[in-house]
Amino acid sequence: MTAPHTIAVLGLGRMGAAIATRLADHDWDVVGWTRSGRSAGALQATGDPRDAVAKADLVLLALFDGRACREVLDHVHGALRAGAVVLNISTIAPAEAAGLARWLGPSYVHAPVLGSVPAVAGGDLRILAAADQGAFDRARPVLEALGTVRRVEDAATAAALKLVANHSLAGAVLALRDSLRQADALELPRAQVLDVLELGQLGGLVARKRAFLSGEPATAAAQFTIGALAKDMALLAAASNTPLRGAADLAGAPDADIALAATVPAVDEAVLEPLRAYIRGHATGDPAHFRDAFLPSAHIEGIRDGAFVSWALEEYCALFHGRPAPDEPARSRRIDAIDVHGTVATASMTLWHGADTFTDIFLLVHVDGGWRIANKAYHRR
Ligand SMILES: NC(=O)c1ccc[n+]([C@@H]2O[C@H](COP(=O)([O-])OP(=O)(O)OC[C@H]3O[C@@H](n4cnc5c(N)ncnc54)[C@H](OP(=O)(O)O)[C@@H]3O)[C@@H](O)[C@H]2O)c1
Repeated sequence: MTAPHTIAVLGLGRMGAAIATRLADHDWDVVGWTRSGRSAGALQATGDPRDAVAKADLVLLALFDGRACREVLDHVHGALRAGAVVLNISTIAPAEAAGLARWLGPSYVHAPVLGSVPAVAGGDLRILAAADQGAFDRARPVLEALGTVRRVEDAATAAALKLVANHSLAGAVLALRDSLRQADALELPRAQVLDVLELGQLGGLVARKRAFLSGEPATAAAQFTIGALAKDMALLAAASNTPLRGAADLAGAPDADIALAATVPAVDEAVLEPLRAYIRGHATGDPAHFRDAFLPSAHIEGIRDGAFVSWALEEYCALFHGRPAPDEPARSRRIDAIDVHGTVATASMTLWHGADTFTDIFLLVHVDGGWRIANKAYHRR
């Protein structure tokens, strides 16, 4: 096994700059290149990636996505040294990773990483490496300088595993956002809430991202961006063809740290108003609240006694007589979910009414300056 002497790092963004710096600190001869031409600290950088790879026996890619990998490799391919290993740590689609592995053959190491900039600096990345034995042996000293390596059978599997790992990160960020929204609705002090969340399942994330979550003016640079995580969730959804709950919720500036997605305010109060009017209609039995909640053209639809019914709004209102149900104190209702897309929204609600539990699904529209329910479908059990 011959360890590489000269390493070209293509892409000096957050990860590439940190990786190049760590490898240089470990006495490798590192030359960097990045599209924008910026440099990374004291690192030796060149304006032409072909110059960088011409000197290198290992070429490390730390690029944003599969398209960037393909474009950069197309450009430098003819300048690669015979026998040079191409080590790609970028998070890309399984099919893209498989395509690069086919194209570059036994010199390609696909090695997506778990962990961010601090993990690079500490050599604590978790690396999922797929490669032929020869290329793996040559890349191993570099990989081990960056973290702990786990072999994976092929590039597509490594890429898929990385996307699944990031899905759990997206889930954690969105779970944290939900906790913060509930805490805000209860008017709990943010610092106290974060202290307590640090003790629980999301403690690691809260501790690492405390500065962002506290709403302090951004002192730290983003380490992993909302845009990159949203890119990964789009890749996962496209690869799996399976609905990815919440991925569309990764709202916020694409260049902001992922933690800021957890601090995005709850949906505009205005969209909740017709749902609250609907709840008031049930609580009081006063149909005026339903007329506030729904558009006059709305229909209320579902299966009743085994048959499909579709009531016009006034037929529905006629079921209510201005008095609460006798068992109203024992009834309860909960808004479960709401998804807003510009001028339309969907919402769901659970209503516990005596022996019946209803699931209501609403379609809402923003019309004449306010939100109204355009239609409701329900399931009764
Ligand atoms: N940051 C993390 O915590 C983290 C953790 C694990 C994995 N990753 C993955 O690692 C990769 C790099 O992440 P990062 O956070 O370092 O991203 P980043 O800071 O946005 O850097 C992206 C790099 O890709 C380059 N690039 C983008 N589009 C390009 C194109 N079309 N052609 C050539 N170069 C292009 C950028 O060049 P310029 O900026 O110079 O234009 C920059 O060097 C991504 O796949 C990301 O998902 C990131």
